[in-house]
Amino acid sequence: MSRAVASPHVVNIADLRRLAKRRLPRVAFDYLDGGAEDERTLRENCRAFEAVTFHPRSAVATPSCDLRTTVLGVALDLPFLLAPIGSSRLLYPRGEELAARAAGAAGTAYVLSTLSGCRLEDVQAASRGPVWYQLYLVGGRDVARHSIARARAAGFSALVVTIDTPVSGLRERDVRNGVRELASRRLWSMLPFLPQLVARPRWLAGFVADGGLMKFPNVVLAEQGPMPYADVGAALEQSMVAWEDLGWIRDAWSGPVVIKGVHTAADALRAIEAGADAIVVSNHGGRQLDGVAPTLRVLPDVVEAVGGRVEVLVDGGIRRGSDIVKALCLGARAVLIGRAYAYGLGAAGEAGVTRAIDIMRSDLVRTLKLLGCPSIGELDRSFVEAPAAWRG
Ligand code: GLV
Repeated sequence: MSRAVASPHVVNIADLRRLAKRRLPRVAFDYLDGGAEDERTLRENCRAFEAVTFHPRSAVATPSCDLRTTVLGVALDLPFLLAPIGSSRLLYPRGEELAARAAGAAGTAYVLSTLSGCRLEDVQAASRGPVWYQLYLVGGRDVARHSIARARAAGFSALVVTIDTPVSGLRERDVRNGVRELASRRLWSMLPFLPQLVARPRWLAGFVADGGLMKFPNVVLAEQGPMPYADVGAALEQSMVAWEDLGWIRDAWSGPVVIKGVHTAADALRAIEAGADAIVVSNHGGRQLDGVAPTLRVLPDVVEAVGGRVEVLVDGGIRRGSDIVKALCLGARAVLIGRAYAYGLGAAGEAGVTRAIDIMRSDLVRTLKLLGCPSIGELDRSFVEAPAAWRG
């Protein structure tokens, strides 16, 4: 392991965040770290975990702890997957491939965003674990059909359809840091925002050697070929998925469909009606509708409404293995971690992602031992206490 991310320099995810902040230009770090508007939901996603407390069973010997699970019938060594993060290639050269490789080596799945900088075939080839493809309709239906066919041919095992982006959330840090201007390729507009890039020479050297501003190689436009980089705000504006789209998406994709961006029990039921095989309770990491409830808070309600008909995953605010344990106790089949691994990617590339995964793994084992629970399959509501107002 790279010394820079080894203990004692890095003990937890917050340490990786600190290192990422040091290596990345402000515009890239804030893109990853920030959320929409007042960032209330971003903060609340994390704080919701503080409202749940543990009920341990002491003096129970757990010589080994089993972290294995299955998600959509696929065996995983860990109860967490790596969430789709757009533009990961701006965090580190060939970022998506590195993150997928680290996930596969750890025995878990990587979810590739449509808005990624690496070809989906290369990402699949980089991992020896399962890879899922996350779909936005940027570029329109035919472009999406083409990506879906490529993802299927490349061996992606599930399609994740994100339903919470009729428009981009207002990520104020991105506006202030000149994301739009920097993506404009007009020198005069870019100029005021360039000093932040020059201030991070190590990042800049890697960025230039990696080919400079990425394209979206999985969004192939009829006339232009791979879509030129657009700031994510602009891209999300063309990314809307409506319930009516699920029909043709299901027809185009023969494998399991995961619907991500469910905030309420009502939408969970709608997702099941639309043919989802699994759902992800997600508010897009607090990046879309600010003021929506933290995901952990709505998880019990959704789990109850779903009643075991499909698997329920959750993301948002997970920074420790104990957070994962709490989500599993409240009924999640598994969780997705996003920023937690991407801080590692931004800090040190693949070594940083591997370190983030290792931190989560050892947190999970330690938490299970302290709870007196030998396997994640045995976690249930009796190990936690959640506020009475949280239904489910
Ligand atoms: C992309 O989906 C983003 O939230 O930035």
